[in-house]
Amino acid sequence: MSRNAVEWKQTPSFPESHYVDTRIYTEEDIFLDEQRKIFNKCWIIACHESEIPNAYDYRTFSHPGGPPLIVIRGEDMQVRTFYNICPHRGNTLLYEPVGNAKRITCIFHAWSFNATGDCIDISRGKEGYQDRFGCKDAGLREVKTELGFGGFVWVNVDDDSCTLKEYIGEAMGMLDEHLNEPLEVFHYHKAIVNTNYKLWHDTNSEFYHDYMHYFNRITGMIQPGYFDRKYTGYPNGHASVGSMAIKYDAYEGSKARGVGWPGLAPGGWVLIDIFPGMTYNLRTSVLRMDTAIPLGPNKLLIEFRGLGLKRDTPEERAERIRDHNMIWGPFGRNLHEDLLGVHGQGLAMRERTDSKWVIHGREENMTIHDEGGMRHFYAEWSRRMGRKAYDPYGEQAAVAK
Ligand code: FES
Ligand SMILES: [Fe+2]
Repeated sequence: MSRNAVEWKQTPSFPESHYVDTRIYTEEDIFLDEQRKIFNKCWIIACHESEIPNAYDYRTFSHPGGPPLIVIRGEDMQVRTFYNICPHRGNTLLYEPVGNAKRITCIFHAWSFNATGDCIDISRGKEGYQDRFGCKDAGLREVKTELGFGGFVWVNVDDDSCTLKEYIGEAMGMLDEHLNEPLEVFHYHKAIVNTNYKLWHDTNSEFYHDYMHYFNRITGMIQPGYFDRKYTGYPNGHASVGSMAIKYDAYEGSKARGVGWPGLAPGGWVLIDIFPGMTYNLRTSVLRMDTAIPLGPNKLLIEFRGLGLKRDTPEERAERIRDHNMIWGPFGRNLHEDLLGVHGQGLAMRERTDSKWVIHGREENMTIHDEGGMRHFYAEWSRRMGRKAYDPYGEQAAVAK
C-alpha cells in the first residue's frame, strides 16, 4: 500500500540499529563532525609504495579530514608524509599529483625544504629575521606514516593515535597470507560522484545489491557457495566477507582465470572493509583497493587502484590488466553499476527531501545478503561521533524522556 506524508516519515518498525536517519548523509555540520572525529583520528590509505619507488618520488594526497598532504620517499628510502603547506604564510608547496623533488621550493617567497621536512633555505633570512628565526624553526609538519597490509602507505594526522597494527587488529586475517609479496599498482582512476562517502562504503559492505550486477548474479549468486559467505565484524568498524569460488566461465564471453594469486584458491574472492572508507577486494587475479575521500557531505572522490604482483611477467601482467578491466575498469562490467546506485541515492537525498530513513534491516544469519556489515559500520560511526545514526540530533531521545 502506498504511504501518505505521515506514514512515510514513521520510524521503521525495526530495532534502532537497523535503520539510519538520512540526514547523516546530507548535513554539513555532521560532515564537519566526521572530519574531526573520524577522518582526523583514523588511519587512512594515502597511496601505495609502488607509486613512489625512487628516492624523492612524491605523491600528493587530499586527506579527507582536510589537510592536503605530500607523501615523499627520502634519500634513506623511508616514506614520510607532511602537510603540503608552507610554514611561512601557508601557501601550497606542491601542485602536481606525482613527481620527484629533491628540494621543495615554495613559489611564493622561495623558502626551500628537503624530503625529510627540514627547512634548508630561507631567502634573505639573515636580513629579515637576524638571529630571531632561522631554518631550524621552520620545518614542515610531519604526519604519522606507516607502510603495511600489502605495501600501502597509511597516514594518521592524529599524533596521539594508536599504531596501524592496533587499528587494524585481526581484521586483515583473511588476506594476511595473500599479501606477503611486494605488489604493484597497475591501474589508477578516480570518480567524483555527488553522493555521501558512507553510501559508497555501504556498497562494499552489502551484497544484496548483486541484483544490480548481472555479472555477479551469473558468476556468483547462482553458483554453489555464494550464500555460505559470512560477514565477520571486527573492532574499530572493520569487516570481512568469506571466500567463494567465482565461476567466470558461467558468463558468456568470459573465461576461467588463468593467472592466480599466491595462496588463493582458483576463482577465490576475499573482501575486507576497513573503517571508515577503504576496501580490499581480492578476486582471483587482481587486488582492487577503493579509497573513499569525501569532499563534502554530498560530494565524494573515490580512488580506485588495481594491483598485481611486482614480479609479474609481462604476459601475467597483461592478463591481470585484462581481468581487472573487464570487471572493475571504468568501462568494465560492474563498477559503473555501483556508481549508478550511489549516484541515485545522492540525487534523491541531495535536495533534503523528506525521505527520512534508510533501512539496514535484513537478517540472514550474517550471510552474504544480511545487512549486518552496514550495521557494524554504523555502530562504530555512532560510537566515534557520539551521535546515534538513527537519531543524529537526539530528537527521538528527547521525545522519549
Ligand atoms: S608562503 Fe611559502 S615562502 Fe612564503
Ligand atoms: Fe557492487
